Formats: sequence, C-alpha cells, structure tokens
Amino acid sequence: MILRTEGEINPYYVQTLCMLFFPGAKFGQEEKPGPGVPEADLHLRRTAEGFEATAQLKLDHATGRGSYLFRMADFPALTEERGAKIAAGRAMLTAGKELQGYQPPWGILTGVRPSKVASELIVSEGGVNRARRVLRDEYLVNTKKAALAVSVAATEMKILRRLPPQEGLCSVYVSIPFCPSRCAYCSFVSNTTGRLLSLLDPYLETLYLDIDNIFGVIRSLGLRVATVYIGGGTPTVLSEEQLGRLLARIGRHLGGGELFEYTLEAGRPDTITEEKLRIARASGITRISVNPQTLSDELLARIGRRHSVADFYRAYELAASSGIADVNVDLIAGLPGDSFRNFSDSVDAVLALSPSNLTVHSFSVKNAASIRQSTKDVADLTSSADAAKSVDYSQLKTKIAGYRPYYMYRQKNTVGNLENVGYAREGREGLYNIFMMEEMHSIFGVGAGSVTKLLGHDGKGNRLIRRIFTPKYPYEYLKGAEKIRCGDRTEGQASIADEIGEFYRRNL
Ligand SMILES: C[S@@+](CC[C@H](N)C(=O)[O-])C[C@H]1O[C@@H](n2cnc3c(N)ncnc32)[C@H](O)[C@@H]1O
Ligand code: SF4
Repeated sequence: MILRTEGEINPYYVQTLCMLFFPGAKFGQEEKPGPGVPEADLHLRRTAEGFEATAQLKLDHATGRGSYLFRMADFPALTEERGAKIAAGRAMLTAGKELQGYQPPWGILTGVRPSKVASELIVSEGGVNRARRVLRDEYLVNTKKAALAVSVAATEMKILRRLPPQEGLCSVYVSIPFCPSRCAYCSFVSNTTGRLLSLLDPYLETLYLDIDNIFGVIRSLGLRVATVYIGGGTPTVLSEEQLGRLLARIGRHLGGGELFEYTLEAGRPDTITEEKLRIARASGITRISVNPQTLSDELLARIGRRHSVADFYRAYELAASSGIADVNVDLIAGLPGDSFRNFSDSVDAVLALSPSNLTVHSFSVKNAASIRQSTKDVADLTSSADAAKSVDYSQLKTKIAGYRPYYMYRQKNTVGNLENVGYAREGREGLYNIFMMEEMHSIFGVGAGSVTKLLGHDGKGNRLIRRIFTPKYPYEYLKGAEKIRCGDRTEGQASIADEIGEFYRRNL
C-alpha cells in the first residue's frame, strides 16, 4: 500500500488506521501505484484552534475523502499528541467509510490497550459516564465497545486499589516454548518436532541457571515478587519429573509467602495428567489454564489441534479437583470454519463448568501460521460475519453468569478488528495479566523468547520503559545464554544483571 503523510503525526499510527480498511497491508517504499494497490494521503496541520486533518483513500477507481477539525479548547485535559491523533483518525475513518461503507467497532483506537485510554479518560474527564461518551463521540468507538473498555478500566482500578502499592513489586515470566504439536492458526515459536523436543533437557539446565540469576538480581534490587507466570508454548509438555524439577528450582527462590499468584499455563488438554497437577499444587501453583479453543471435534481437527473435546473435559475435571484455586479456559472466536451456533455452544458449555476465568480471543491471522501459508488472501480467513456476534454473545453470557471483564488487549489482523477479553469471577482475576497489560511494575523474563520489561521514572515525571529481549529459538538461546548471564569482556557485552542494575540506578 502507498501512504503519504504531511504534518506532525506518527506514520505508524496512520499505517494502523489504513489497516482497518486494508487488513494485512504492507507499506514498502518500492510500492508503485497500479491496479489493486491502495493509496492513502493524510495532511495534518496545527491551527490556532486545534488540529485540522484531511484524508483521501483510493483503490482502483474508487475514492473516499474525509476531513476533521479537533478543537483543543473543548478538551483541556487532553495532550497535543492525542488531539493530533483524534483529528487524523477521524479524517481517515470518514474516508474509509466513504470508500468501503465500513465503520470499525473500535473507531480510531488502533492500539493494543483500549482500556488504557479508557482509564486515562476516567481520570481526565472525571468519571465513567463521561469517559464512555468521549470514547463514543470523539474516538468513534461503538457503544458496546466503549462500555466494555470503560468497564475493564473501572474493574482494573478497583482491583489495584485492593492490592498493596506497586512500589517495590515485580513479576517473573518463565518461558517454555515447546508444544506437543503445532496448531494451524498459531505463530508461536513452539518447538514441536522430535529433534527440537530433544533440546528440552539442555534447555531446562540453562533455564535453571537463568532462574537462579534473575531471582538473585531481584533480591539485590530489594524487589518483592508479586506474581510468577510459567507460560508457553505448553509448559505441561514437560514430563512429570521435568516439571517437578522446574517448580522445585523456582520454589527455592519463593518463600516469605508474599506471592499473590503463581500460574502454570498448561493449555493443551492432551498434556495434562493427574500427577502433573499434584506436583503443581504441591509446589504452590494457584492458577492453571486448560484450553479447548472450541468445543467442536470437527473444528478441533480442522485447526490442527490434536486433542478431542472429551480430552478437554477429562483435563478440566482433573484441574478442577486438583485443589489449584483458579482454572482459566481459553476460547477463540471467529476461527475459520466456525459458526455462531458452534461458538455460542462452546461458551455455554464452558460456563456450565463454572471456571474462575474465561478468556475469549478473537481469531488473528498470523503470517507464520500454517493456515495462513495455505491461504492466498487474508480476507478469506477474516471474513467471518459471525465473529462479532460470537464476541458479543460471550460478553453477554459471561455477565449473566456473574463474570466481569477484567483485562483486554487487541492484536493485529483480527477478524472484524475484534479484541481479546479476560473474564473472571469477582476476586478471581489473573493479576499477572493486569500487571503486564497495564505496565504496573517491572517483569523479569527468563527463557527463550521472553522479554524483560523494566519500568522506571526519570525523576522529571516521565515514565521510562526498557525492554531486554532473549533470543527467540532454543538453539540461539542455548548458544547465547551464558554471554547474556555473565557478559563478555572481550566483546564489551554487559551481563543482564549489570544492564538491569544500571537501569535501576539511573531511574526510579
Ligand atoms: C500462546 S497460546 C498458549 C496456550 C497453550 N499452548 C494452548 O494451546 O492451549 C495462548 C492462547 O493464545 C490464543 N491464540 C493462539 N493463536 C491465536 C490466533 N491466531 N488467534 C487468536 N488467538 C490465538 C489461544 O487461545 C491460546 O490458548
Ligand atoms: S496454540 Fe498452544 S499448543 Fe498450539 S501451537 Fe500455539 S502455543 Fe502450541
């Protein structure tokens, strides 16, 4: 796609606006105008009153145009940056609607965390009603989504008020990027072949050293660990013996009883055994995921998920009777080949089990997923008319069943531009999800593909965020782990402990 912008606006934001109308669009410099190549022009200027934007979207012989003037004086609490974004977004949305007749459900909110904007509006505009109105009238978010975002933000605020202050807290993420087989819709770097699974033992040996190292860093900084999340991939791909050793290694560093939550994202029902759950419970795990994605055997087979609905029920019953306090269940709405009937039956069947958490993901097209490789056009995978209805159904039925939406995020290329929402019974919310999504405190990542996200302040009221990435693939991770852990003088590479220490010395 060709994009031309003029004025003080982040071009990445304008690209995300374009993608609302042209999902999966790529923005190469070398793209030439021609048949089937969409073109966008955006002009933004600061006037005495505020920001004035004009936009034009073109595809072949069709053109859509839009313009908007955002008056800063009407919203004195909003920043200049927000004002510019609203003007640009409104002009682009009008142009897109004229071209394609489509009004995106989240309006001009293209970011990952709409509830963060909602939280800011609750504070700056003075309450939930006004925040809802601004989202609807200025950001063009539809009524249902505005209510959802504000409800998530209000719930998060309530939960955070219940917890001790975030100062001095942190969380730890431990990555197990291995799966028993690869699902067709997933792009996760999950290592599934026999050859890669044979890396599990050396992987765990290196991981143990990194676990010891990172907890040492946390202690030396005087931080307290609020939550630990063991995620994947599929952590329960580990054998009973491997899982026991991993949890024992992490357990050496826990103690003191301050941990709010300890999650094992088991996920795949076909990897869950009674003994693994017993080990998990005995090691202090408080939250586990058992994920069917859908309760249709036909669809499970089509999406390459090698387990049955009966496997899910078996694993869920084991988890529910294991003594682990909270069980989460993941479903995906809008999977290719799914229908509203199928999905709503899945929601009803899961709610009948009464898990403490239900997470509803909207199907997102990932370029590395095998389903994408075998389909020419992204639109063929995301054209499900039933997806929006399915998501609305889950919102309504969870509410009736006594759940509240407590965290939410959006991904790129989702069917119908829809969102992912975590629902929980009151007091049973997955706290790690909130801490991570709302960037409440630093998160220390261990293992291949993990990210350490350090949060601080520069002393002048500005937030500082530093991300440290760990190599994605187990091979690269095994090769580079020692250098990352210990540093390398000859190459002038600091150890991760020094990098983190340096960040904490400079900021706070
Ligand atoms: C990284 S996966 C790990 C979970 C675990 N391995 C499992 O399969 O149950 C976390 C969740 O992301 C969701 N997910 C993965 N790929 C997705 C996609 N393409 N679109 C929407 N949700 C997706 C699924 O609901 C999955 O349970
Ligand atoms: S959905 Fe889960 S099991 Fe399937 S490939 Fe992705 S991470 Fe692995």
